[in-house]
Amino acid sequence: MQPQKANFKLVTLNSKLYPLNSLSHARHLDLTDPLKHFRDRFHIPKHNNQDVVYLSGNSLGLQPKTAKQYFEQELKDWATLGVEAHFQGKNPWFNYHEWFSKPLANIVGAKPGEVVVMNNLTVNLHLLLVSFYRPEGKRRKIIFEETAFPSDRYALESQVRFHGLDPAECLIELKPSENAAHIETAHVLDVIEKAGDELALVMLGGVNYFSGQLFDLKKITHATHNVGAIAGYDLAHAAGNVPLSLHDWNVDFACWCSYKYLNSGPGGVAGIFVNEKYGDGSALPRFHGWWGNDAKTRFQMAKEFNPAQGAEGWQLSNAPIFNMIGLRASLEIFEEAGFANLRAKSEKLTAYLESLLNNINQTTGKGQIHILTPANPAERGCQLSVRIIDNGLKLFDEMTSNGFLPDWRQPDVIRFSPVPLYNTFEDVWKTANFIEKYFEEA
Ligand SMILES: Cc1ncc(COP(=O)(O)O)c(C=O)c1O
Repeated sequence: MQPQKANFKLVTLNSKLYPLNSLSHARHLDLTDPLKHFRDRFHIPKHNNQDVVYLSGNSLGLQPKTAKQYFEQELKDWATLGVEAHFQGKNPWFNYHEWFSKPLANIVGAKPGEVVVMNNLTVNLHLLLVSFYRPEGKRRKIIFEETAFPSDRYALESQVRFHGLDPAECLIELKPSENAAHIETAHVLDVIEKAGDELALVMLGGVNYFSGQLFDLKKITHATHNVGAIAGYDLAHAAGNVPLSLHDWNVDFACWCSYKYLNSGPGGVAGIFVNEKYGDGSALPRFHGWWGNDAKTRFQMAKEFNPAQGAEGWQLSNAPIFNMIGLRASLEIFEEAGFANLRAKSEKLTAYLESLLNNINQTTGKGQIHILTPANPAERGCQLSVRIIDNGLKLFDEMTSNGFLPDWRQPDVIRFSPVPLYNTFEDVWKTANFIEKYFEEA
């Protein structure tokens, strides 16, 4: 990036003047970042023996260094104790899942009893839809995003069919505003109101995977309840990324995976939230399994199901310990860093990326970069989804060949997600600098 081209004002660092978009400024931001030491707690993938600029935390979070030793601990307990490790291991497997409720409740804004870890995301979405999508009479419609993650669409369509209904009649798709990728909250509220007593459920991605838009879940939940419907969310791109207050917003249910911002590792155990107002869930239709039985009577092997209170009652099977270890290692780091601190850094990192990208448009005068994600920090998390006018895939390929790891979404979008736990301002600067040079040479 050439300082003489910069449209940025100058800042004073160590008694010298630097453009705001200079590498020195990025390094200064890193030096003064109170969370900078958390990067050392993660393994950063390498390219030609150098750390890659990892921008795919929205897809797969990085490995906490402690994960290996935690795996070794459970392998050791399995080797030395066998089945006894369920009760005598260092972290007894019988109630291993219970550890997660408090740190996860802090992250999604819930009471510990409203949260449990189990299965994977799409499985959990189905289990929750069994309980919360209960079409009756004309109240059978579901509002969701036209650009929902395909798995959510498949889950919703198949649930509708499971009730003997027609998806074409029951699914209402929210479409982005014209020329934008995001969906205005006012439009969502309007569609809810119009659906009125035909609406059974609103099921949105809290942060849309494609555009990076964070929905106003508080307002949407309120409007949904006003017409007598249920509000549930897929928080795959929201949990660990944006502040959530599921309990206070009176959300009915939510589910999320934890291999993205929560760094649990590939296929790591997922989470659910069920509002405490549903008690032990016995008033709802639900599939049962022995792990949803109250822990106090689980091993009595009784014929009658005796439900656990809260979200735990939705569990079916015993906890997949080896799928939970990465999440445990990661949540310990979240607890140390404090979610509010992470969010404060995240807003800065993303705004920094946004301003550097916008500056490239100004310096080239060609407007090749079109940011789809809302500019308002309250409507987004880390991720910026960027449409590159004219062959974005070529730029993406150049980036990945040169030590950058953003991710690509068909048909034409590069997603950049600087994550506050392990990304630096220098990462962001290098990204923008690479893109600027690419356009200069194009
Ligand atoms: C928004 C969203 N929903 C659902 C899924 C599917 O997750 P899983 O394969 O864990 O069921 C993903 C995966 O990336 C996702 O991003």
